[in-house]
Amino acid sequence: MFGWQAEASVENARRQVADLIQADTREIVWTSGATEANNLAIKGYALNHKDEGKHLITSQAEHKAVLDCFEWLEGEGFEVTYLKPNAQGVISASSVASALRDDTILVSLMHVNNELGVINDIAEIGKLLESKSCCFHVDAAQSAGKLEIDVKSMSIDMLSMCAHKVYGPKGVGALYVRRRPPLQIKALIHGGGHERGMRSGTLPTHQIVGMGESFAVAAADMKADHAKISALSSRFLSEVLKIDGVSLNGRGAQSVPNITNLAFAGFEADRLMMVFKDLAVASGSACTSASLDPSHVLRAIGLSDRDAHGCLRISFGRFTTEQEIDRAIEIIREGICKLKKL
Ligand SMILES: Cc1ncc(COP(=O)(O)O)c(C=O)c1O
Repeated sequence: MFGWQAEASVENARRQVADLIQADTREIVWTSGATEANNLAIKGYALNHKDEGKHLITSQAEHKAVLDCFEWLEGEGFEVTYLKPNAQGVISASSVASALRDDTILVSLMHVNNELGVINDIAEIGKLLESKSCCFHVDAAQSAGKLEIDVKSMSIDMLSMCAHKVYGPKGVGALYVRRRPPLQIKALIHGGGHERGMRSGTLPTHQIVGMGESFAVAAADMKADHAKISALSSRFLSEVLKIDGVSLNGRGAQSVPNITNLAFAGFEADRLMMVFKDLAVASGSACTSASLDPSHVLRAIGLSDRDAHGCLRISFGRFTTEQEIDRAIEIIREGICKLKKL
């Protein structure tokens, strides 16, 4: 009975996750996060379909959890086209169309860019790929729970998600794998045959329940969160963009309001972070913040190494307040003045 209760909790969470993206519960595979979901989708699909073609498409602006999978697959004999985003960081359907080949078996693109916040038109790209025989994988780590997703109407075959971008626990995620017609992927982790053979290992009930709850809350609050965070972001940008030398990367593209990426002409991000010491900001993505290399995303949109080193990513969330925004503006203004004097 105790085991059945745990199972019922896991299945309830599976329903909550499936509902957020209009999927069937049997299409959800639990993973340890979006990194693992991306690995399972990209490597699992490519390895299972290697006899049908060797060509894969992704973009230069993807998260490392995607790029490193493709780099690994290149070592296994696959050929990869890395699409260049436009100056705002967006991948167009036409660039996907022109890269497609008869032997393309997989296209993998992110929904929302984690460094710039810009949105790719996944529905349009899905529509383009619908008539092709290749599979469409979407890294939705930054969009699940923030934007409406309908895997069926957007013609998505596989979709990666994680809980911690929507206030759920770290260390849990899921991969949507289309069931009709069934999609075959090779498991990367072998064991007891859990998750319909796609991902073995005892399920972390507590993590999964947390992810389910966070997705249910995100679904209920999506519109209100979006409106609130948009207002905060506008309040912030209307002031900081008045500061001489400050500009917004990705400006003009459709974007989520929770991520902004600012360029501070003539300044180094690490010096800025020192003078903005009361702000929790990042240069590049959190996952690569230990790296001294300039962000590969900013390089892909055409920034020089020097300019890319002068950018900071600033994020807002459900719990950010107007007072915090006003304080952040003040800290940035004062910090820049201080650096200019130095
Ligand atoms: C776009 C994107 N993909 C993948 C990941 C990796 O997800 P996880 O930390 O759940 O492994 C992240 C961030 O963490 C991300 O922003």
